[in-house]
Amino acid sequence: MSVKRHVYMDHSATTRVDPRVLEAMLPYLREEFGNPSSLYRLGQKASRAVEGARRKVAEVLNCSPREVVFTGCGTESDNLAIRGVALALRHRGRHIVTTPVEHKAVLKTVQQLEQHWGFEVTYVPVNRYGQVSTEEVERALRPETVLVSIMYANNEVGTIMPVAEIGHLLSERDIVFHCDAVQAGGYLNLDVNELRVDLMALSGHKFHAPKGVGVLYIRRNTPFVSTLTGGGQEGGGVSIRHPQCGRHRGAGHSAGIGPDRA
Ligand SMILES: Cc1ncc(COP(=O)(O)O)c(C=O)c1O
Repeated sequence: MSVKRHVYMDHSATTRVDPRVLEAMLPYLREEFGNPSSLYRLGQKASRAVEGARRKVAEVLNCSPREVVFTGCGTESDNLAIRGVALALRHRGRHIVTTPVEHKAVLKTVQQLEQHWGFEVTYVPVNRYGQVSTEEVERALRPETVLVSIMYANNEVGTIMPVAEIGHLLSERDIVFHCDAVQAGGYLNLDVNELRVDLMALSGHKFHAPKGVGVLYIRRNTPFVSTLTGGGQEGGGVSIRHPQCGRHRGAGHSAGIGPDRA
């Protein structure tokens, strides 16, 4: 009897859960199923596991665990990031710079800001390899630009954008930089200080975690209004704690994020 074998070559679509990931997760799907917000032992054990995971992610990103927010996917991270910054800074300026080759999680979000919130979006063209140049990004900036959103690695053709170069350019100005790094997780350098990004989106299922796990890095003091409201999980869905501080002084609110925010 012949055995049918499959070769799976679409890791940019999704990946198989690594057996080590499954192994690490199983206790929390079985006996350690507590709500991390619960005060009794079962909840506190779950809470310790979540905070341990947050510290591990922070090590990879070279940031504080308080700057790491767990979400449900890359789409949620991108949506939260872009809408959260745009809404926080809408009184300072309503211009966003991005590229036409971003994932729909970014494109549809900026389009919605155009349609419903009076923002204007500039789509900086890419070259024939799908790469944007830092000079073109610089040319697109205006006094009222509040946010630049550029992906790290392209999901269709794999082009890597000059994220660190753009990050350095923007760090000298009062413009927030969001990077959709969903296709870069597990492959490229994710050090947020070397890349000089203010917000970065990651998605677990692209690098051997299960579907339903995302990360949003938010640099401390980044102006941010959470578009998720609720019971205080993930620091109140990225709620606001430190008004008007940091390098975006006077710009609105800032994210003072982390588990001790709630
Ligand atoms: C570049 C990029 N951004 C965002 C997403 C959305 O991620 P998720 O599937 O976790 O919502 C994807 C998914 O393919 C992607 O490739």
